[in-house]
Amino acid sequence: MSETTSVISDDSAASDSEPSGAPSAPDYGRSFADVYDEWYADVSDVEATVEHVAELAAAAGGGRVLELGVGSGRLALPLSARGLDVTGIDISDSMLGLLAAKPGAAALTVLRGDMAEVETLVDHGFAVVFVAFNTFFNLDSEQQQRRCLEAVARILEPRGSFVIEAFVPADPPERIERDLSATRVELDRLVIAATEHDPGAQTITGQHVDITEAGVRLRPWRIRYATPVQIDDMASNVGLVLAERHAGWRREPITASTMSHVSRYVPSEATT
Ligand SMILES: C[S@@+](CC[C@H](N)C(=O)[O-])C[C@H]1O[C@@H](n2cnc3c(N)ncnc32)[C@H](O)[C@@H]1O
Repeated sequence: MSETTSVISDDSAASDSEPSGAPSAPDYGRSFADVYDEWYADVSDVEATVEHVAELAAAAGGGRVLELGVGSGRLALPLSARGLDVTGIDISDSMLGLLAAKPGAAALTVLRGDMAEVETLVDHGFAVVFVAFNTFFNLDSEQQQRRCLEAVARILEPRGSFVIEAFVPADPPERIERDLSATRVELDRLVIAATEHDPGAQTITGQHVDITEAGVRLRPWRIRYATPVQIDDMASNVGLVLAERHAGWRREPITASTMSHVSRYVPSEATT
């Protein structure tokens, strides 16, 4: 277990610096850090995630766990409280600032940097690497996603597992190009999500337009989604094979109406 929180900066990584002109890859932390814990505390089953990851770490001999895109520690902190040796990586100073201020943060090893280059940030030999709540799709090109998987394959120990939680996109992609919906309607706040979909690139560029008495705040974001089969293909290209896929962290079965999946990959030599 790490005794101290060590935040190591990777200055080459895009982070919360002022953008020059229109942002090409929106900084998730800049857009959402101030509301993240209020809006997204309950987006997924934390208890089940912790149980599942702890079980996989034990099965691999009890080694270290790495969360890609650790954010404000919604999952990493309870995992660490469970007694696991947890490292978290995030590109956003704002998100890591939220994490650092929370009780228990000192027990984590926290690194700032790009998960597409995770291999350059950590020592090898993780029992479990996981990326939750669609965070893998924050890598907004296929190339970045492939680079990330390649790096993950290198840092996993031979008995280790890589787990990804992500939504299941329509296949073939929906043809809807633009959409508008109210995501929060409160007496003193209206949040409207406007999205632009590029089915060819599999990207969705969005704005959460946050309207309060204080004014209007734009919260931009972009994702590059991939179907489960496409993730399987990218993973197998770097020697990671699908070991199990479920509809949630409690190993719910996949059905025709499954909205999101939890998929576990293992090094291909582990299956031979
Ligand atoms: C949706 S939040 C999820 C946070 C946390 N995993 C959770 O489940 O609550 C996505 C996080 O990924 C981080 N992120 C986005 N792109 C990243 C990248 N290329 N490398 C590392 N972190 C990234 C964001 O800063 C943000 O904290």
